[in-house]
Amino acid sequence: MTDVDFERVCGVGDLPDPGKQVFELGERYVVVFHVAGSFYAIDDVCTHDGGPLGEGFLEGFTIACPRHGAKFDIRDGRVLCMPAVCGTPSHEVKVENGEVFVKIIERPKKKYVWG
Ligand code: FES
Repeated sequence: MTDVDFERVCGVGDLPDPGKQVFELGERYVVVFHVAGSFYAIDDVCTHDGGPLGEGFLEGFTIACPRHGAKFDIRDGRVLCMPAVCGTPSHEVKVENGEVFVKIIERPKKKYVWG
């Protein structure tokens, strides 16, 4: 891993805690979350039917898809309840000098796996 792969998305003070915002990174949209003093990033895509997770309801470390209610853990993208049956990709986040950076992690798609 190199620091070159990290892309700045916002300043620490730009996102309330708790809060979330969608950013375009390359060819994908990523939701960055600020919860309990830490930052997390997952794809802005529900694995059930492509719902926009960034428009979902955030409660603690859980985001609920606004379309049919599947829930995901924002810390690692694992699925927590139906109708989605597999997790959505999570990405690396780091904070330096008051700025938030995200590194896209490419992972093979999982099928019908909880988590
Ligand atoms: S698209 Fe997210 S639960 Fe259906």
